[in-house]
Amino acid sequence: MTTLVTGGTGFTGSHLVRRLLERGGSVRVLDNQPGLFHDELRDLGAEITIASVTDEDAVRRCVEGCEVVHHLAAAFRKLNVPQSHYSDVNEQGTRIVCRACVDFGVRKLVYCSTCGVHGHVQGESATEDSPIAPADYYQQTKYDGEVVVQEFVRDGLDATTLRPTAIYGPGDPGRFVMLFRLCKRGTFTMFGDGRVHYHPVHIENLVDAFELAATVPGVTGEAFLAADDRSYSLTDLVHEVGRAMDLDMKIRRLPFAPLRAAAVVCEAVCKPIGVSPPLFPRRVDWFRQHRSFDITKARRMLGYEPRVGLDEGLRQTGDWYRRWGYLEGSPRKQVTLPEPLHGPISLG
Ligand SMILES: NC(=O)c1ccc[n+]([C@@H]2O[C@H](COP(=O)([O-])OP(=O)(O)OC[C@H]3O[C@@H](n4cnc5c(N)ncnc54)[C@H](OP(=O)(O)O)[C@@H]3O)[C@@H](O)[C@H]2O)c1
Repeated sequence: MTTLVTGGTGFTGSHLVRRLLERGGSVRVLDNQPGLFHDELRDLGAEITIASVTDEDAVRRCVEGCEVVHHLAAAFRKLNVPQSHYSDVNEQGTRIVCRACVDFGVRKLVYCSTCGVHGHVQGESATEDSPIAPADYYQQTKYDGEVVVQEFVRDGLDATTLRPTAIYGPGDPGRFVMLFRLCKRGTFTMFGDGRVHYHPVHIENLVDAFELAATVPGVTGEAFLAADDRSYSLTDLVHEVGRAMDLDMKIRRLPFAPLRAAAVVCEAVCKPIGVSPPLFPRRVDWFRQHRSFDITKARRMLGYEPRVGLDEGLRQTGDWYRRWGYLEGSPRKQVTLPEPLHGPISLG
């Protein structure tokens, strides 16, 4: 069986590609850039095309002959690009992928959306039926991608959507690096009361969800939240990250409002001069957005069951960061490692 993974050299995509190769399938990757894992994935046998999902010819060449397509490529953490870049990639790119899937008779498309389509969760926890309330243009365009997928489902495409929560695990160069760095000296500054919840999903649990979405029958047109079995208050999460580094964390509390105001000003000053702002509203909203989700539907319809718990997952993640030098430097320093430090992912 041949499978295409768009965004396959990224964090999530590379884990999915490894799993598919382990299963013995033939795997194609389409990604904007080689990323940290290009050489490793190529050596494992993946056929990698470097091109954008907005490049219709490249997408069609990659999709032709595939039985399954996992569509993960997304404009995600990009700063200093026009907002139209997000819709070009997340909405129009998804349309191009869907059309190619129809034209080449792909058996199954799995579209990777985000729990962020529900925005700030009201009440205890959200389900797939909770209001769609994207809080920024990234989340909005991920939802626009869902709408595109549903249009093609109505025309006969067999597609299923996953809405992952905060993905973490070995190989994640994003948010959790910052959290580990902010915790590594044993004290953490919490803006606000730390009682809002954050809902992680370990990368291996998420890869299970992708495999299930691609293989379980009767889920055409469905969307599933993909998350670990529970969410954590920010205070608990900080303590858990500390524990993963054998630290007993002390938490200092400061009010949230001045930080938010500083983030708004910082973004307004940096954007026009083309500088990446060290603080921006989407980043600091982490301290106030409540994120807690119910995975009953994925359990019931997909047979999904998260296997890796937070304790084990954070230890693996911390070990990986330490091994590859990610915990050095200031919390907000961009992660750019010298070539020899780029290494294969090991869950050991
Ligand atoms: N990480 C999370 O917590 C989280 C939570 C919910 C949902 N998601 C979704 O999960 C998916 C994977 O995210 P991730 O965390 O693994 O991010 P990631 O590491 O940035 O992976 C995404 C990959 O897609 C590539 N890409 C971006 N624009 C592209 C384009 N036009 N054509 C082809 N490839 C392109 C990226 O390259 P560049 O580096 O050049 O952009 C990157 O290699 C995304 O769909 C994201 O929206 C992530």
